[in-house]
Amino acid sequence: TNIAVFASGNGSNFQAVADACKNGTIAGDVVLVVCDKPGAFVEKRAEQAGVPLFSFSPKSYSSKAAFEMELVKKLHEQQADLIILAGYMRLIGENLLKAYEGRILNIHPSLLPAFPGLDAIGQALEAEVKVTGVTVHLVDEGMDTGPILAQKPVTIDTEDKRTDVEAKIRQIEHTLYPQTVQYWIEAYKGVEKH
Ligand code: GRF
Repeated sequence: TNIAVFASGNGSNFQAVADACKNGTIAGDVVLVVCDKPGAFVEKRAEQAGVPLFSFSPKSYSSKAAFEMELVKKLHEQQADLIILAGYMRLIGENLLKAYEGRILNIHPSLLPAFPGLDAIGQALEAEVKVTGVTVHLVDEGMDTGPILAQKPVTIDTEDKRTDVEAKIRQIEHTLYPQTVQYWIEAYKGVEKH
């Protein structure tokens, strides 16, 4: 299975998935990194891992439809079967959704449907919940909506600072995402069509 990873930032989840492909936890290869924030650290990680990178500035295109058509072209060139969003700070538009229907995953740092959207960890701290977590779901046209594939809870202890909660969440993400990608690959065998 050929995997494309979309990211806008640090790329630690890209790293976890790329490592899992290399060590055989995921029966697949990362064939493309798409980054909409030129200069983001994920680009260095892609280079280091030897994965082709497509870096672009959305503002240099006339519309979302225009850059998504370009993305679909790149995805087809690399024969990508599955797209995984890993800190990609942008909604997927209808062109891309249509081209990869049921084949786009996202990871979100809360137990959805709680705390969708930006700064889910900040939202959980603000709400003073004792448990938050991580969700992996299939992407639809909404913001952090779509069928849930996997969830894991993370406790927020009274002494936890924001950085502690972030660290706990990242740690869970880095095992849950590779596991769920492998689960998708097994469950969806045969739907690959590049
Ligand atoms: C992760 O917390 C992910 O859940 C969220 O964005 C963050 C990305 O982190 N969607 P990284 O860039 O993979 O390190």
